[in-house]
Amino acid sequence: MTRIFSGIKPSGHLTLGNYLGAVRQWVASDQEPDEALFCVVDLHALTVEHDPARVRRLTRQAATLLLAAGLDPQRCTLFVQSHVDEHTRLAYLLECTASDGELRRMIQYKEKAARAQGAGEGVRLSLLTYPVLMAADILAYGAQEVPVGEDQRQHVELTRDLAVRFNQRYGHTFTVPKATHPKVAARVMDLQEPTSKMGKSHENGAGIVYLLDEPEVVTKKVMRAVTDTGDGGVVYDRQARPGVANLLDLLAACTGGDPAALAGGYSGYGALKRDVADAVVELLRPVRERHAELAADPGAVEKVLREGAGRARALARPLVDRAHEAIGLLAP
Ligand code: AMP
Ligand code: TRP
Repeated sequence: MTRIFSGIKPSGHLTLGNYLGAVRQWVASDQEPDEALFCVVDLHALTVEHDPARVRRLTRQAATLLLAAGLDPQRCTLFVQSHVDEHTRLAYLLECTASDGELRRMIQYKEKAARAQGAGEGVRLSLLTYPVLMAADILAYGAQEVPVGEDQRQHVELTRDLAVRFNQRYGHTFTVPKATHPKVAARVMDLQEPTSKMGKSHENGAGIVYLLDEPEVVTKKVMRAVTDTGDGGVVYDRQARPGVANLLDLLAACTGGDPAALAGGYSGYGALKRDVADAVVELLRPVRERHAELAADPGAVEKVLREGAGRARALARPLVDRAHEAIGLLAP
């Protein structure tokens, strides 16, 4: 049995990047409820300025979308992070294992802290400790694999370091997990700014395809995607031609082809964009339709989350209890 764990923040509407980089892998892998755990990590959405009502709304929406994308509650455990206290219990123990220096080196911390400061906002302490909570999410379940997009590589590395360090100091307690990434589209780029990641909270919505965008909106965003100057035709070169490479990655991710090979089939950007737009629209259509059905019955989604939290708690508690004692705390 391979146990997998992954999470998604309810900090904005889910994007095509979330779907291709992470969620689609989750759907392909769910098997048994105690083998595949997926979590809406709401505590992580509180690490930057937030609106309480919006976080609540987005938490429910993210869970609904994950079900709409195909997660089957009979074959995986879907729950909300804050509903299972073990995550924060373990996070404290891991804060006593991590160092200030290694957290300050995290790329995402540096970027987000700079952004908060630039906007005249304070940097929340939880932004610094964010990767420790993420490590707790993963280690509390003894997960072996963590299916995520490229941007989470460094956080999973830190999780591994903390697991190894804890095990060395206090005796074998944690499984050391590894990140897994999709072959293509592990880092979907913003359509307007193809050198930065397509991210939920990016300011410029024109470069972001949201899972719930209407087909016409998706088409418009793709057709207006920034492409590269240069007269080399359609070639796959992530460094020199990031805009076109991103479109080819999207097409490959939607149709199953190879991005470099697909490039050979096009002589101009217009036809490529049209094919990408059509492929993305078809990819998202069933998700959007199923979301509309599920959203009409919020009680059913809440029931899935309640049952999921119950199962997750039962799995995490013994492991976190063990860590509690191992580090030197008296069992209650
Ligand atoms: P987040 O939206 O930061 O909570 O990310 C949830 C999951 O989606 C993580 O596994 C991320 O690595 C993945 N992800 C987010 N944005 C992208 C992107 N632009 N390309 C690929 N994967 C992404
Ligand atoms: N940090 C992840 C992100 O921004 C979300 C996350 C939180 C996560 N806890 C996790 C992902 C545990 C995988 C496993 O995308």
